[in-house]
Amino acid sequence: MIELSGIRKLYRMGDQEVRALDGVDLFIGRNEYMALIGPSGSGKSTLMNLLGCLDTPTEGHYLLNGRDTATLDDNALAQVRNREIGFVFQSFHLLPRMTVLDNVAQPLVYRGLPRAERKRLAIESLQRVGLGNRLDHLPNQLSGGQRQRVAVARALVGRPSLLLADEPTGNLDSRTSAEIMALFDELHAQGQTVVVVTHEPDIAAHCHRTVRVNDGKIVEDRINPSRTNAPQAEAH
Ligand SMILES: Nc1ncnc2c1ncn2[C@@H]1O[C@H](COP(=O)(O)OP(=O)(O)OP(=O)(O)O)[C@@H](O)[C@H]1O
Ligand SMILES: [Mg+2]
Repeated sequence: MIELSGIRKLYRMGDQEVRALDGVDLFIGRNEYMALIGPSGSGKSTLMNLLGCLDTPTEGHYLLNGRDTATLDDNALAQVRNREIGFVFQSFHLLPRMTVLDNVAQPLVYRGLPRAERKRLAIESLQRVGLGNRLDHLPNQLSGGQRQRVAVARALVGRPSLLLADEPTGNLDSRTSAEIMALFDELHAQGQTVVVVTHEPDIAAHCHRTVRVNDGKIVEDRINPSRTNAPQAEAH
């Protein structure tokens, strides 16, 4: 489903060059549940932004569902982001003046679906995360955990092939974090492919595979034996 080969991402800052990613090869199969870990500045968010087509590599190839993303223009990339990728961020990124329902329906506006259909799909997505009873609330009328659930519902509303979460529990207390991870566990069990960036071992322990980056390179890629009973070859 996802294949990265020889990925490099360089940032030029004046006469200094930052190698945010320095030769990354990575395969992520359908319905994997992967944690991306590593110290601050190691390249996790950079890798996430590439996976989510928010950014393009300086070098290397990214194949998403068989298509080389380098061949896509900005319009096509925006469409891939809208259809194939669901994003969840640490700080929720909800629109403060829109209701929960409208926040979740928002990504569907670009699909040209009629309003009633957008509403139906948004309600369905909110029910999936246990918030079918908060449709008309504004984000600031919700708890942090509920806000993150709304963000997950929004990420899922377009049925993306890949759910990407960058430190999704970074702003939550430990109990609420566990609830959000239980939701990810459930989505994965229902067939969703999930990639979570985290630096918390407790969060990574939910995932079936852990990829560690350091200095822009993958330094470890292992299956979490306590979370899987199938050999990795079957997941691919
Ligand atoms: N837009 C940018 N311009 C220049 N350098 C950047 C840019 N974005 C990231 N970097 C550099 O690339 C490296 C990797 O950054 P990245 O944000 O991917 O790290 P991270 O692993 O997500 O860290 P954290 O855990 O703190 O979020 C860092 O050295 C950072 O300073
Ligand atoms: Mg980061």
